[in-house]
Amino acid sequence: MKLLIHDLNDEEWEKVSADHSGWKIISDNGKIHPCTGCFGCWIKTPGKCVIKDGFDNMGALISKADEVMVISRYTYGGFSSFIKNVFDRSIGWVLPYFEIINGEMHHKSRYPEDKPFTFIFRGSGLTDDDKAQIEKYIKAVCLNLHGIIKDIRFEECAPAENNSAAYKCEQGSTVLLNCSLRGKNANTKMILDRFESYIDGTKQSIDLVSYLNKQDELVDILANSEKLVLGMPLYVDGIPSAVLRLMEKLETRGRCADKRVYVIANMGFYESRQISNLMGMMKKWCDNCGYVYGGGLAVGAGEMLGKMVISASFEKGPAKNVAIGMQKLSKAVNSSGTEKDIYADVSGFPRKLYMMSANMSWLAYLRKNGLKKKDLLRRCDQE
Ligand SMILES: Cc1cc2nc3c(=O)[nH]c(=O)nc-3n(C[C@H](O)[C@H](O)[C@H](O)COP(=O)(O)O)c2cc1C
Repeated sequence: MKLLIHDLNDEEWEKVSADHSGWKIISDNGKIHPCTGCFGCWIKTPGKCVIKDGFDNMGALISKADEVMVISRYTYGGFSSFIKNVFDRSIGWVLPYFEIINGEMHHKSRYPEDKPFTFIFRGSGLTDDDKAQIEKYIKAVCLNLHGIIKDIRFEECAPAENNSAAYKCEQGSTVLLNCSLRGKNANTKMILDRFESYIDGTKQSIDLVSYLNKQDELVDILANSEKLVLGMPLYVDGIPSAVLRLMEKLETRGRCADKRVYVIANMGFYESRQISNLMGMMKKWCDNCGYVYGGGLAVGAGEMLGKMVISASFEKGPAKNVAIGMQKLSKAVNSSGTEKDIYADVSGFPRKLYMMSANMSWLAYLRKNGLKKKDLLRRCDQE
């Protein structure tokens, strides 16, 4: 079986559908839900997503496929929100356990073989730099998801209809948006709450999860404020699909030259440098929207440091580098200035120990759900 995951509209699909007869097709039927970050695909129904919307069994589908083809509109140096959504919902394809590959933390494989992937990116006037950015990102995705890159191709297509009208925003106001769909329980929320204490002036903290069904209202708030601090987790080496969807919507509002965007991203793995693809995409989005990219703070080992930043003495312990990063980035926010991206790794807490405690925590979660280690390792390709 060959698997095709695409985001083509009906008219575009009509032109190529004959080339894919007999393939299993995953396309946008408007019903896909974003990943909520619950890890249910590891600790509740291992290998399968708990959201039953027809996109819950991607791990088994990838495993059964002889090869996978992905056709995506080029979006800020990565996938469109739909394709990213499918990838975010596919992490049950790998195991939560960690291994070191090329000196960095990654996930162990659930299935015996890595899968060949062909990627086709469709865009208008893509430059060599755009293509290089995509290739770097795809390499990271495939390393993480145990994919083998068979081919990466680029196709010219009609440009998206952009709104190039300029608009103004309210000077001095800052919105801190927690983009994690874990809401109040997110590491992002704890990190942003701490960051907020460094921010002067009029400020508002909001959670994306409260606005999922009223995105236009949220887009109004974001469009009106001068400074946006967007906090988010790293998902499959990039921006979570729910955030991408919001970014696509905000772009349709037009261009705002006096808006400043700051990014605070955290991740499960240890090495904060793995967030660099996400930062690159945020910069591309800012360029597209005419915003000033004000800088980012990348937090490694977010599952640990997220909980530590709430402690009063966080500036001295393993989260020391996050505290230094927050001081620098907050100065930029308070002066409406810019700062270079800051990569904050854990201080004085060895990677080996972090991996061991994370691996043990998976077992504790499983037991809570009445499952054993062998349940976690199960393969869903024979069902
Ligand atoms: C769908 C999904 C994909 C993820 N992909 C990555 C990844 O590529 N690299 C990484 O280090 N962590 C990854 N993580 C882990 C999250 O970044 C990490 O758990 C983070 O601390 C969650 O932050 P939050 O509580 O603010 O949502 C992923 C988590 C989910 C749910």
